[in-house]
Amino acid sequence: MRKVIIAGNWKMYKTQGEAAEFLMEFMPQIDDAPEDREVVLCVPFTDLTIVNKSLHGNRIRLGAQNVHWEECGAYTGEISASMLTEMGVRYAIVGHSERRQFFGETDETVNLRLKAAQAGGLIPILCVGETNQQRDAGETERVIISQLEHGLVGVDLDRLVIAYEPIWAIGTGETCETTEANRVIGIIRDRSKSPQISIQYGGSVKPSNIDEIMAQPHIDGVLVGGASLAAADFARIVNYQ
Ligand code: 13P
Repeated sequence: MRKVIIAGNWKMYKTQGEAAEFLMEFMPQIDDAPEDREVVLCVPFTDLTIVNKSLHGNRIRLGAQNVHWEECGAYTGEISASMLTEMGVRYAIVGHSERRQFFGETDETVNLRLKAAQAGGLIPILCVGETNQQRDAGETERVIISQLEHGLVGVDLDRLVIAYEPIWAIGTGETCETTEANRVIGIIRDRSKSPQISIQYGGSVKPSNIDEIMAQPHIDGVLVGGASLAAADFARIVNYQ
């Protein structure tokens, strides 16, 4: 079912101490947030334990930022779905543009990770998006459709979230026009042939633009980087009007 999902992606930020501090400040501020929205925190692996303990009985869901396709094995630096679910993790980001850009992630490895995440009981958040050059060359649709076609082979669309994150809008302060984000997300929904799938927007989401973003009919939530690191900012985003 289409569900509103407001997710924070902390990337490689926050020690355990900083995570605990954030939660103490953040949780009281979302006490009265409407029940219609799911709140997810995708934290570094090293923060999973402390965040999971602090969330006990709370409405916030725990997320990771990657997951490997094998159950176990000689894969230095990787982590498996069962290792994550054991720690209370519900969601895992897969194919974030920073993984694609800096760590050689391809549509093929993204596909393997998506299937393994689902098989292990996680809900993957698949990230797709075009670069600046691709946008300027009018290739946005082609790039997104190609990422979906290759990434989604054999993936269960009922247990998936997609995040449209135009790369040029990530960490730049330059938000995609909300109507353009809505248009691209509409295309993603059509192509996925799954009208019930939740599709988020990501890229410079802030307290000042969240209300306008969430007013768009195709946008089911947001994946927030920088603004999820400050408790007051992320609380304002969760409490969007
Ligand atoms: P910013 O919100 O910092 O632009 O990052 C977006 C992002 O990459 C979320 O996954």
